[in-house]
Amino acid sequence: MARRISLNAFDMTTPSHQSPGLWRHPENRADTYNTIGYWTDLAKTLEKGTFDALFLADVLGVYDVYKNSSAPALLDADQVPLNDPFLQISAMAAVTRNLGFAVTSALTYEQPYALARKFSTLDHLTDGRIGWNVVTSYLESAARNLGMSRQLDHDARYDLADEFMEVVYKLWEGSWDDGAVVKDRARGVYTDPSKVHPINHHGRYFDVPGIHLSEPSAQRTPAIFQAGASPRGRTFGAAHAEGIFLNAIRPEITRRSTDATRDALEEAGRPRDASKFYALVTAVVADSDAEAERLHREYRSYSSREGALTFYGGWSGLDLSRYASDEELKYLDTNAARSALSIFTTADPSRSWTPNAIADYLGIGGIGPVLVGSPETVADEIERWVDVAGLDGINLAYAITPGSFEQFADLVVPELRKRGRVWDKYQGSTLREYLSGEGNTRVADDHPAAAYRGAFAGGPSAAGAAATDTPDAVLARG
Ligand SMILES: Cc1cc2nc3c(=O)[nH]c(=O)nc-3n(C[C@H](O)[C@H](O)[C@H](O)COP(=O)(O)O)c2cc1C
Repeated sequence: MARRISLNAFDMTTPSHQSPGLWRHPENRADTYNTIGYWTDLAKTLEKGTFDALFLADVLGVYDVYKNSSAPALLDADQVPLNDPFLQISAMAAVTRNLGFAVTSALTYEQPYALARKFSTLDHLTDGRIGWNVVTSYLESAARNLGMSRQLDHDARYDLADEFMEVVYKLWEGSWDDGAVVKDRARGVYTDPSKVHPINHHGRYFDVPGIHLSEPSAQRTPAIFQAGASPRGRTFGAAHAEGIFLNAIRPEITRRSTDATRDALEEAGRPRDASKFYALVTAVVADSDAEAERLHREYRSYSSREGALTFYGGWSGLDLSRYASDEELKYLDTNAARSALSIFTTADPSRSWTPNAIADYLGIGGIGPVLVGSPETVADEIERWVDVAGLDGINLAYAITPGSFEQFADLVVPELRKRGRVWDKYQGSTLREYLSGEGNTRVADDHPAAAYRGAFAGGPSAAGAAATDTPDAVLARG
């Protein structure tokens, strides 16, 4: 039996996520990103299509590398205006029972103590359906507005990220023992202080002496996703990720990346399948191939070349306005997303890329393939991608929204289901269960977060005395 293909949708709280210029298409409702109805309707559509999760991208700056200006991005709505990605999740959770939510947060600009609480809160409010796409950011414009003169260096961002993860794992897994919350009305004990522990973290980047503020949620640690594919990014992903999200151009090239990352997982002491892999994919689907091709041409007529180059400037750190439009791009280390550079240079030696070719490629769907055709054609292509590239699923971006998601849920999902590649109904109810199987709501034993499970039990506690103190003894002391 062929493996299940996991479906995820990819969106952002902005009018133009991965298909620059298409916000102008008359049927595109992307400009209603700032209404709660857009998000609740989308969540219902995705749950009807038994998508595992909605991925929400995020950045903390404006794309101002291209032409050294934020004007192109503003004119074209290229990921600006951009709202906070966390705040619509509760509303979507309220109108769904199963859909998961993986939200991007760049830890480079966060404090682990505060961010851990935000994720715990959402894990409570979604009953264990929350995931975190851990990113380190790539925009200098984010650093400049968040108290730094420039970004930390590329690899140093991942060093900070490793310590950040250690702190949040301690808070989520170790600070509160199972059974700490007793809610004993008769004795007046809500939480047993002897079962809540300060984490006493003192590291290179962070000092967090205290206890986690939130009580344990269903998953404790949210499902961890990651999307950086540079050598250092891959090491980080292999250590922490339960889901890895990849840019993709050809499945044979992506295969090298999934194989190399599975090797890295083993080197990190985790099974080769400890993380799932998803490629960014956009689909343009209609009843027939001919109609889908017509639709694709129609969508492409709205693509913005300036927008594509604006996106690429932000991702890669390269201003392609300084290149001749037919000049071949060569790899160089920048301080932005190195994988966005290597994918157009070193990843596929059989192909070279110029600014014109990149702008053309990025016109719809970012750094991912656009699958065009009837439900059968698109399902064939998805199966080929998943099987050749060694993927576990896809992350579906839109050309227009919610149209692209509705087309996919109505036309492609039934076809994939017929082939036994998409489940009929959710198995389990937490996001981690969708990743690792029913019953696996907590992190796997071989995940680094598990090392902190119960790690502080029996040690110093919020009771301020020996852990053998009972709630009654603590209460009696006053
Ligand atoms: C498919 C994909 C999606 C990404 N989405 C985001 C995002 O929403 N926000 C963000 O700050 N970075 C995002 N990134 C960037 C990465 O998480 C990472 O910070 C960046 O690729 C730099 O790491 P690298 O040099 O290891 O590739 C994404 C990367 C990929 C490949």
